[in-house]
Amino acid sequence: METVRVRVPAKVNVQLAVGGVRPDGFHDLANVFLAVGLYDEVTATPADTLRVTCAGPDAAAVPLDRTNLAARAALALAGRYGIEPDVHLHIDKDIPVAGGMAGGSADAAGALVACDALWGTDAPRDELLAICAELGSDVPFSLVGGAALGTGRGERLRPLDVGGTFHWVFAVADGGLSTPAVYGEFDRLTAGLRVPGPAASRDLLDALAKGDATALAATVSNDLQPAALSLFPPLTGTLATGRDAGALAALVSGSGPTTAFLAADADAAAEIARALMASGTCRTARATTAPAPGATVV
Ligand code: C5P
Repeated sequence: METVRVRVPAKVNVQLAVGGVRPDGFHDLANVFLAVGLYDEVTATPADTLRVTCAGPDAAAVPLDRTNLAARAALALAGRYGIEPDVHLHIDKDIPVAGGMAGGSADAAGALVACDALWGTDAPRDELLAICAELGSDVPFSLVGGAALGTGRGERLRPLDVGGTFHWVFAVADGGLSTPAVYGEFDRLTAGLRVPGPAASRDLLDALAKGDATALAATVSNDLQPAALSLFPPLTGTLATGRDAGALAALVSGSGPTTAFLAADADAAAEIARALMASGTCRTARATTAPAPGATVV
């Protein structure tokens, strides 16, 4: 095979319940992931040595060395199968960088699936998922897509039923947030408080299963939101703009700074996106739908 191209979705966390910090420094989560229709594409081509390139509006912010999660995914698979990781990974990046939408995780899952096909390793699904979990807490979900409840540090997945199409708008902020910094701010804001054990909301899972946007809007939550707003105060204005434009719910996506707006239908989403773009409270706004499939060879 000469070239393999894999498409991988972004995610929003419709519930992100964060527990206390664990001895390993991670936080226990009840993390309800929903894959959304913004995609990165990873193309794997045989090469003399491991090489990463990236194209897209945010490409300059993407590291191209072996710290890139896509490169680390190729190295992990090659290491397991005793293969030389001589591959050119090209990332067509449409998912906001450092935006709380698992763009780096998407690239890792995409590279893993692409290299598995290119090298003919044909690794079992469970092994791919185990490699994903080593690479990062959100990477397994980028592989599977759809909707899933992530427990542990977010890497242990249970697939969830989704009974319809949800309409979303994502406002991309000017700048990024570091996930460890946001968790650190969460720790600072909750210091001395009793942090309850994280649990998925039954009402939220029901709303997802029914495809009921109004019910979902009433139950979405993100425990990292106060920390993200503390580190990136202008997001408060972005959230208010989307709410004023008719969003059923407005929240920070994961660790931010992308903000997510649930809309009643496609027309409402277009109107929210238009209002956000006109407001000057974000860099750009994108309307899309969910759920989206996981990493897929195209
Ligand atoms: O797993 P991943 O590499 O994506 O995590 C990035 C950082 O986010 C971790 O180093 C940690 O600071 C924080 N994190 C956490 N608890 C989680 C997931 C991530 O504290 N469950």
